[in-house]
Amino acid sequence: MDYKIALLPGDGIGPEIVAQAVKVLKAAGNKFGHHFEFSEGLVGAAAIDARGNAFPDETLRLCMDADAVLFGAIGDPRFDNDPKAKVRPEQGLLAMRRELGLYANIRPVTTFRSLIHKSPLRPDLVEGADFVVVRELTGGIYFGEPRGRSEDLEKAYDTSVYTRAEIRRIADLGFEYAARRDKRLTVVDKANVLATSRLWRETIQEMEPDHPEIAVDYMFVDNAAMQIIQWPKKFDVLVTENMFGDILSDEASVITGSLGLLPSASVGIHTSVFEPIHGSYPQAAGKDIANPLATVLSAAMLLEISLKLTEEAAAVRAVVARSMEEGIVTEDIATGKAYKTSEVGEWLAANL
Ligand code: IPM
Ligand code: MG
Repeated sequence: MDYKIALLPGDGIGPEIVAQAVKVLKAAGNKFGHHFEFSEGLVGAAAIDARGNAFPDETLRLCMDADAVLFGAIGDPRFDNDPKAKVRPEQGLLAMRRELGLYANIRPVTTFRSLIHKSPLRPDLVEGADFVVVRELTGGIYFGEPRGRSEDLEKAYDTSVYTRAEIRRIADLGFEYAARRDKRLTVVDKANVLATSRLWRETIQEMEPDHPEIAVDYMFVDNAAMQIIQWPKKFDVLVTENMFGDILSDEASVITGSLGLLPSASVGIHTSVFEPIHGSYPQAAGKDIANPLATVLSAAMLLEISLKLTEEAAAVRAVVARSMEEGIVTEDIATGKAYKTSEVGEWLAANL
């Protein structure tokens, strides 16, 4: 089959890591008889420099026309400490989510035995932890109106808004993931304080009878933040609003010691986007040292979720596992010799 894949390498190490995932996808295409047509678009600081816009229209069209989008990273230190910057790379990411209707961000958190020693937690706490964070991505305080500054600039405000329909569609996905896994769904909210959270709870409680096989529990976000650290193994699927999901998914990603290995998917109304969860790592940009495995595993999610190529996705995951067993990895996770980003990509493509 022929598939169109849009590549948005973005900033920092983005271009280098996306290039490795492309090598692996091409190898998978050859092995399984598919043809992937790649086309590249600008996003983030790279797009601001070239077009003055972090998510240009041509990039949106490219994404809309594609079967899936592989995304690198976004963010540039030039903008981070300048709260007055008029255009920011992150706006590109938010515009992409809004325009493509990417209402769900899915982050599987898995442990890799060989990396457990990198975890900030005791090995016995994290070994075997395996859960998924399903984060709402196009609502809540990230997008709610009104937002802004008072005329005298002495006050600023953001508004968190959720509709029942928005909650239902993300909760549907949470139930779906739980059904495929251990059948436990934890709804994270702040229903003791926030009206939006009470609507979340009410809406999902109403949905429970349609999913009798799923055990649902409700947890306040502060408590969830604590329990993810204390008992990471107790979770199966967490579903939560945009802002809480942003915070908890970063927390979750780091406890396994595998930050450089965790992929994510953003899915919704139009084309889905797949990206590593780590950032643009500007200090490493251009040095050929960044770990490409999270991006390669994001490509595996792309194969599975968007293209429904399950066997191909499994083959990509298997070759990643082998590269780790055989120590063909970058310096961040190497115990012996460290390989370059490009060398890891080539090895994966050759050994798939
Ligand atoms: C993420 C990031 C983004 C977010 C930033 C870069 C806007 O932290 O994807 O989690 O807050 O959603
Ligand atoms: Mg985040």
